[in-house]
Amino acid sequence: MPWPNVADDEVFHLIDLEIERQNSALQLIASENFASPAVMAATGSVFTNKYSEGYPGRRYYGGNQVVDQVEALAIDRVKALFGAEHANVQPHAGANANMAVYQAMLKPGDTVLGLRLDQGGHLTHGSPVNASGLTYHFVGYGLTASDERIDLDQVRDLALAHRPKMIVTGATAYPRIIDPGPFREIADEVGALLLFDAAHIAGLIAGGVHPNPVGIADIVTFTTHKTMRGPRGGCILSRSDLGAAIDKAVFPGQQGGPQEHAIAAKAVAFAEAATPEFSEYAAQIVRNAGALATALADEGFRLVSGGTDNHLLLVDLRPFDAELTGKEAQTMLDEAGITLNRNSIPNDPRSPFVTSGFRLGTPAVTTQGMREPEMAEIGRLIATTLRERSDAGRVAAVREEVRALCEPFAPY
Ligand SMILES: Cc1ncc(COP(=O)(O)O)c(C=O)c1O
Repeated sequence: MPWPNVADDEVFHLIDLEIERQNSALQLIASENFASPAVMAATGSVFTNKYSEGYPGRRYYGGNQVVDQVEALAIDRVKALFGAEHANVQPHAGANANMAVYQAMLKPGDTVLGLRLDQGGHLTHGSPVNASGLTYHFVGYGLTASDERIDLDQVRDLALAHRPKMIVTGATAYPRIIDPGPFREIADEVGALLLFDAAHIAGLIAGGVHPNPVGIADIVTFTTHKTMRGPRGGCILSRSDLGAAIDKAVFPGQQGGPQEHAIAAKAVAFAEAATPEFSEYAAQIVRNAGALATALADEGFRLVSGGTDNHLLLVDLRPFDAELTGKEAQTMLDEAGITLNRNSIPNDPRSPFVTSGFRLGTPAVTTQGMREPEMAEIGRLIATTLRERSDAGRVAAVREEVRALCEPFAPY
């Protein structure tokens, strides 16, 4: 049978438009990146056609001789990259990875400690609207009022008071290094398991610019599409004695057939992340974030925690302009071709839909080849747009400056 003779101009036109958007605007969303041509090719490969429920050597369908090899390759590469005893590369996303870990290790109603959403944590760390918070009894810890760092005294006090079965650390909007050591000590003191959610920082860990929690935490989850620069997806690393329970919770517990095209692309990304070039990339992400922090502070913005150690910055807009909300800033910056997301700042007086801040990060612009001079320029363009937001002509002029800045660095 021939393929349907339909030129799908509608969809392919939209793909062209999205390529143009990604090439000509600044992608500063801290959880985004540009996947390499090899990662893109594997994602679009014939592995998308194959059903392979189960695991290498233990499948419910025939024809998995090659799939087994690609999934085993992904597992071997990621174990070597992080020094892990066990890996499951099947989670479709970071959220699935976390839910599978909970299912493997907890019973409904069990107590878990997690970083509060409004202090930088993730929905899957116990938000009441998420399956994590609906199924398990999460108790939230937060940041210190003084320096906006994770309040380890509070973590310990809550652990002693609530005797959780598991402590979760890791964050979505936290600009500082998270040292797994003190969490390990607290978990040991109360006999809890420790889950480190490295969704955002996996690429920084692989590149050697953030401490590696593998071997300290019992389980580490991460997403493969953020700093790791692979396809959209998730991954779970653990001690070998926890591996069977985790595998069972992923499949058949949470998911059906694995997406082997994404797993092939994860294998590609893990090999890329093992190169010296990737370590240099990770180091440049952090240098760029520092340069962007300096530029924004010079323009009058307040950086939550005073700066950044990693790939992201959380900005408190109030000292820059008390009237300006995160929502309005996000909209105005989008018009200028500067894409980032509004974000609550710690103890934000505004609602999560409005917010007093935004979050931005340097993984994507660093992939494009931008360095410290471009970060200084981006800081200036953000400040100009927001200062002169009532002047449509001025915002349109910034849009042209952004286009010119991006042109020599087009990723695709
Ligand atoms: C800390 C953390 N965990 C989990 C996730 C969930 O990942 P996904 O969006 O792939 O489900 C995210 C995504 O932003 C995250 O930041």
